Amino acid sequence: MTQSSVTDATLMRHALSLAAHGPLTGGNPQVGCVLVDAHGTIVAEGWHRGAGTPHAEVDALSKIPSAAGLTAVVTLEPCNHTGRTGPCSTALIAAGVVRVVYAVSDPGATSSGGADHLREAGVEVEGGVLAAEVEAFIHPWLTATRRGRPWVTVKWASSLDGRAAAADGTSQWITGTATRQRVHEQRADSDAILVGTGTVLADDPSLTARGDGGELMPHQPVPVVVGERPVPQAAKLRSHPAGLIETHSRDLEQVLAGLFGRGIRRVFVEGGPGVASAFIAGGLVDEYLVYLAPTLIGGPKTAIGDIGVGTIGEQRRLAITAIERLGDDILLVARVSTSSTSEGF
Ligand SMILES: NC(=O)c1ccc[n+]([C@@H]2O[C@H](COP(=O)([O-])OP(=O)(O)OC[C@H]3O[C@@H](n4cnc5c(N)ncnc54)[C@H](OP(=O)(O)O)[C@@H]3O)[C@@H](O)[C@H]2O)c1
Repeated sequence: MTQSSVTDATLMRHALSLAAHGPLTGGNPQVGCVLVDAHGTIVAEGWHRGAGTPHAEVDALSKIPSAAGLTAVVTLEPCNHTGRTGPCSTALIAAGVVRVVYAVSDPGATSSGGADHLREAGVEVEGGVLAAEVEAFIHPWLTATRRGRPWVTVKWASSLDGRAAAADGTSQWITGTATRQRVHEQRADSDAILVGTGTVLADDPSLTARGDGGELMPHQPVPVVVGERPVPQAAKLRSHPAGLIETHSRDLEQVLAGLFGRGIRRVFVEGGPGVASAFIAGGLVDEYLVYLAPTLIGGPKTAIGDIGVGTIGEQRRLAITAIERLGDDILLVARVSTSSTSEGF
């Protein structure tokens, strides 16, 4: 059975829309799958709902009594290893699937090889369908997995003139409620939320992800504190629902490696200026979320400090990827400019 590449791309786009139902957090990628008959009709849909739950292919297979003779269209190469669930390649072979179409190869050291396993079993396999779109969709997870370090988002809020606080250190509230709510949603889309000891000692933040009414959101990122000073025994962070990772370290690369080892793929850095600057100086930032409030503060309390730029040729050029109005504030999303040679990953 063969299908035109147009049909495969259309089916893959549908599988991609299913993938979006899955969570961003939990260490696994968002994956979607459709099972298709010889006429190109979708007979089952599946998607991955997070670590420890069935993968998209197995979810789709579970919806029908028999998949004999069907084609599976899946956004990520079927995995080939037994983790908390069994290998999807084996499940597809056992179910009698005759053709597998996927978009992006699995970059995992232990989970890749599913395509080869399927081919060895006589299944027709085609990779790379709609690869660019799927790559863009799971870019943070792919980046983290390929390089063995979590995807790092740094967020700060500042006045239009780039100040995070007034000269006396007072900073609440520069931004409005829409911005604050968005930050809570971004926390909930992260595996970990990271701050320096300076912020813990100055603000005693709770760092929970909360809804409009102050209620806890279903997913809470684990708080991570970097810096050598201890977190006070009475700190609110000590009663965080996701626990607390106290690193007692300023070695950010080592901290990130440790977080990756714990299955953390998305880290949300909420400051303060000292830690944000150290992440930038170290070339460890993948994405910037900069909230600008329409106010002017002036003075010495800049949102970030020294990032190792001594002369203009060393500036860190960014590419703006999104701009959003949130009430009176503006959110700028930026990533490292591909034309920049001063920072890379
Ligand atoms: N506007 C915003 O978006 C925002 C966000 C958060 C905080 N803030 C404000 O920022 C202020 C605190 O500023 P801050 O700069 O002191 O806070 P910070 O960045 O949270 O903490 C700085 C401390 O982090 C530790 N650290 C860990 N790794 C480091 C590294 N690689 N390089 C340097 N230091 C490292 C050091 O403490 P050790 O001595 O313990 O190692 C350092 O003194 C507060 O007033 C808070 O309200 C503003």
